[in-house]
Amino acid sequence: MLSDAPPSSPTPDTAWTALGNAARDAAKARLAALFAAEPDRLDRLTLEAAGLHLDLSKQGWDSATFGAALDLARATGVEAARARLFGGEAVNLTEGRAVLHPALRASDGAACAALGEPVSAEVEATRRAMAAYADAVRSGRETGATGRPFRAVVHIGIGGSDLGPRLVWDALRPLDPQIDVRFVANIDPREMAEALTGLEPETTLAIVVSKTFTTQETLANADLARAWLAAGLPEAGRERHIVGVTAAPGRAGAWGCGRTFGFRDWVGGRYSLWSAVSLGCILGLGPEVFERFLRGAEALDRHFLEAPLARNAPVLLALAQIVNVDALEWPARTVAPYAHGLRRLPAFLQQLEMESNGKRVTRDGRPVGRQTCPVVFGEPGTNGQHAFFQQIHQGPMVVPAEFIVVRRTHETPTEAPLWANALAQAQALMIGKSEAEAHAELLAGGASAAEADRLAAHKTFPGDRPSTTILLPALTPEALGALLALYEHKTFVEGVIWDINSFDQWGVELGKVLAKAILKDVDAGAPSGTLDPSTADLLTRLL
Ligand code: F6P
Repeated sequence: MLSDAPPSSPTPDTAWTALGNAARDAAKARLAALFAAEPDRLDRLTLEAAGLHLDLSKQGWDSATFGAALDLARATGVEAARARLFGGEAVNLTEGRAVLHPALRASDGAACAALGEPVSAEVEATRRAMAAYADAVRSGRETGATGRPFRAVVHIGIGGSDLGPRLVWDALRPLDPQIDVRFVANIDPREMAEALTGLEPETTLAIVVSKTFTTQETLANADLARAWLAAGLPEAGRERHIVGVTAAPGRAGAWGCGRTFGFRDWVGGRYSLWSAVSLGCILGLGPEVFERFLRGAEALDRHFLEAPLARNAPVLLALAQIVNVDALEWPARTVAPYAHGLRRLPAFLQQLEMESNGKRVTRDGRPVGRQTCPVVFGEPGTNGQHAFFQQIHQGPMVVPAEFIVVRRTHETPTEAPLWANALAQAQALMIGKSEAEAHAELLAGGASAAEADRLAAHKTFPGDRPSTTILLPALTPEALGALLALYEHKTFVEGVIWDINSFDQWGVELGKVLAKAILKDVDAGAPSGTLDPSTADLLTRLL
């Protein structure tokens, strides 16, 4: 690992103050003017990482802010924290767990260890078992209860047991797959009904994916799938139609999964798509495609470990966001993937970033005392342009944007309009249009002076709205793996700098407990006396 720490690093407090001052100063300059003022700007703020190209030159940081941001990364110990993560130490302090998803994508022969226990042999064995099972299913050697080959997989899971595999399938699926993969997450039975429409029990495999195997939605949907299979299949061999993927094999077995593929507690739910959680994708895409996906992520892991901080893609993405959120107090970020296959990326990032870093206490339980994770939202391009981009261009709140652009999508030769729109949006956000320009354009277009006076303000764009652009050479398994690993490590770096534990999610627990209590009230036919008046009234109306 290379270290580029200067001889004397500032303390975190000094570094935060310096970054805030530098960022607020830089924000006084026109963003476009920074290119002329800083001849090295494009070189300094564009970089390659595992086949991806990142352009952070349209972010509002000048070279002083950039330097102050790097100082903050050093002062908060990003390099040492990175070593602890890859070293399998208990970085998830509140749960006493290692966080070792990179071990899932390390090539055969790696020697990863979680809390000192070697894990690579087990990871490789699971990978081999999944590949053998996928080959058997895809070749028709492994059949359903009536001897017919499987033609469809229904992947049942929610949160981290859904979003990653769903994204991978959308991005990489053939148009007419040999094995179709459908996803069911919502406890609303409508989603299961839609997924099962057109499928036959004899040729359908249900995969129940749950790290804990206690999740209400997943168990309810698993029950529905089991009942649907039971209604259409003989009892003998029916167990071949339900496979479990879990870190709790005992519970999965007790529920009734015949075959189970496992992963360990050092794999966080939202970091689990590299594991057996993606079994449905492995069946649908083939193990070779999934292996290429893992290699792309591994290449990004190497980049994260080896590149100096100033050229390190996850570190720079994290720092750009920290400047925007903390120093400039912009509380949101929009992500616009200009590829239909990446349409679920914003939802995936919402869980990855907001469940990881949507926290307000430090690792030792004190208030963080500053903003942490912004609201992350987005839509695929160009769709979002025809909806909320109005606000991004002209609303009073600055919303930094992230454009994901794919040089070659599956459907050539249709990329150019996607490129043109993505680049144009980023450019428009940066350069804007002054009122004088808008006025002159109106006059040139034949408007009267009075009309130009009336409309110019409406047609003015403030500009100086920052964005990052990430280019993928093509929507390949390798590029997708690298992209998702990039975001994982970016999220980790932010957590280190904010001094929060990115790997627990206590904030989702309270609602689960209260929902169980309300379900008891539903069974009892009336709200209990413990409910507040508003909740009691709403429940009464629903009963
Ligand atoms: O409720 C949040 C959560 O715990 C996520 O962190 C997780 O990805 C999801 O639920 C699903 O959990 P499981 O895989 O245990 O069913």
